[in-house]
Amino acid sequence: MPQRMNDIYLLAIESSCDDTSAAILHNGKVLANMVAGQAVHEEYGGVVPELASRAHLQNIVPVVDAAIKKAGIKKTKLSAIAFTRGPGLIGSLMVGVSFAKGLALALGIPMIEVNHMKAHVLAHFIDEPRPQFPFLCLTVSGGHTQFVLVRDYLDMEVIGKTHDDAAGEAFDKSAKLLGLPYPGGPLIDKYAQLGDADKFQFGKPKMDGLDLSFSGFKTSVLYLVQNNKQKDPDFATKNLNDLCASIQKHIIDMLMEKLILAVEQTGVTDVAIAGGVSANSGLRNALHEEGEKRGWNTFIPKFEYCTDNAAMIGITAYYKFLKGEFVGHDVTPVARYVI
Ligand code: KG4
Ligand code: ZN
Repeated sequence: MPQRMNDIYLLAIESSCDDTSAAILHNGKVLANMVAGQAVHEEYGGVVPELASRAHLQNIVPVVDAAIKKAGIKKTKLSAIAFTRGPGLIGSLMVGVSFAKGLALALGIPMIEVNHMKAHVLAHFIDEPRPQFPFLCLTVSGGHTQFVLVRDYLDMEVIGKTHDDAAGEAFDKSAKLLGLPYPGGPLIDKYAQLGDADKFQFGKPKMDGLDLSFSGFKTSVLYLVQNNKQKDPDFATKNLNDLCASIQKHIIDMLMEKLILAVEQTGVTDVAIAGGVSANSGLRNALHEEGEKRGWNTFIPKFEYCTDNAAMIGITAYYKFLKGEFVGHDVTPVARYVI
């Protein structure tokens, strides 16, 4: 069992989707955070679960080794091993969980299980500035879109969410309709910077309260592209920048409208964004501008902590370690795991 509470070395592993990542933290400070992406999915227009698990199996040992080397520590220094238990692709999660079990057993140290969505929120505690509790976090990733009321490190409540597609999926599926490879979110962001965001309009669904829906939007992008392609087969290519700018603006407007409502309903004015889509330049600007206008304290993660990374798993595990929240070797991954 871990020795001193002031000398905590954690190895954290993230393998929930298509990035294999390992991080080393010392007393909550990141010493190394290595990420190996998986280009294998590009041509399929989305993550292929079976290919993702196989790539994790190939990547996990070198990625963990690289993290340990970068941190300049010996494995025997480790106090515990943390891993993403869910939500995510079950085969991908299985690789991280099994690896953590094997190494924890070999080193005789405890394990800490981490909820990936909580970890996205707690990425804000890797560096300064840190939000004060309570704060609101709009967590926008490839699989989730949630408005989270964060009362404490491990005390969070989802107060609104999407009923269908996540914001990341809205980006990726729109990009696919425009003929862009997976993941399309970063490409839409890039082309949007050169386009006219008011050129194309899309319908907005009427969703009550803090809930959202992106499926109608996706259909309206599909119809726009299909109808125009009948007249001009090169429509998407010729209008790529304007289409990307309009799609991005529409998704951001939908998110910001509900975020403003979340602040009004809760009275909480410390507002953060997290998850892969928080890397989007338009969303980052929108939060910054809205915050200035409305007197919010806004928190935007560093780029490397927006998309999937093991540093966020490590920081979450650090707070669980302090509370003694370890798990036994009977732990299993879970595809659906609510906050
Ligand atoms: O959090 P994340 O790395 O993985 C999940 O937990 O899902 O999020 C991945 C999502 C993808 O949908 C990707 O297209 C999107 O984040 N994404 C972006 C940007 N960077 C990543 N979407 C829009 N603009 C970006 N710059
Ligand atoms: Zn994620």
